[in-house]
Amino acid sequence: MTISTPNTEDHFEIIIDDLHKSFGSHPVLSGVNLKIRRGELVAIVGGSGCGKTVLLKTITGHFSPDSGRVMIADHEAQNSPLCDVAKLSDDQLDQLRVHWAVVFQRNALLSGSVYFNLAFWPKEIKEMTDAQIMPLARKALLDVGLNPDQIMNSDRESLSGGMAKRLAIARALVMDPVLVFYDEPTSGLDPEMCGTIHSLIDSTHRAMPGLGVARTSVVVTHDTELLRRLAPRIVMLHAGKVFFDGPFEEFQTRTDPEIKPYVQQMAALHARNHPDE
Ligand SMILES: Nc1ncnc2c1ncn2[C@@H]1O[C@H](COP(=O)(O)OP(=O)(O)O)[C@@H](O)[C@H]1O
Ligand SMILES: [Mg+2]
Repeated sequence: MTISTPNTEDHFEIIIDDLHKSFGSHPVLSGVNLKIRRGELVAIVGGSGCGKTVLLKTITGHFSPDSGRVMIADHEAQNSPLCDVAKLSDDQLDQLRVHWAVVFQRNALLSGSVYFNLAFWPKEIKEMTDAQIMPLARKALLDVGLNPDQIMNSDRESLSGGMAKRLAIARALVMDPVLVFYDEPTSGLDPEMCGTIHSLIDSTHRAMPGLGVARTSVVVTHDTELLRRLAPRIVMLHAGKVFFDGPFEEFQTRTDPEIKPYVQQMAALHARNHPDE
């Protein structure tokens, strides 16, 4: 692949360099700098509308930066060099996406059966056949605690909120990703289901992908229980920049006027059923 630079011995998965992104006259990201190493579990936090989803979508190439760069590791190439996402062609981006998965904010499930949802990306991105996908689909459902014999052919409309979230995670697992992104994976779920999803994110993060490269997970969340249990590196966006970068124990005790009111709001933001609507 072209447009790449060698990865260093630090094995960075993502390097974001002075990233700016506006919509019309509304600046959303105004100088984001962030480096994520292979194997890290990173939580992106920050007030509603501060640009967390826009940041994820810029990392994954759905939005292009106005200025600055997003570099991301190419696991199809030897020594996984870093590529400038905005400079990749659609085909090149698809080549990188073979090793990524995204669990979207509202699950983004497709209308159709559970199997149709599980098979969609492996067919589109990895060009796999049904015979290749079926055993992986069964295993992914078992991994998220769903019974493949019962629900493989069910319509996604028949699933509860918690089951739909588990299916969204199973769909990510079928890709056996090296890099996995979650956008508010527990918002609006009841505490028991939140606990199940925390465990799933944790076990998925620790499991080694088939490629033999430690998995990197990036989780947008307001869920303090997730932050407490999984102890990720916390990155807070505020006013278009990274305002805090460090552990949760420090984050929750900070008295800055930018951080403390947000920490106090987190439970209410986390409880919302339809974030950002
Ligand atoms: N496709 C888009 N077109 C115009 N504005 C957008 C678009 N996507 C997001 N925005 C705006 O960017 C800001 C940040 O949005 P978002 O990243 O979704 O926030 P959050 O941190 O809650 O995920 C919001 O003001 C939102 O309205
Ligand atoms: Mg969002």
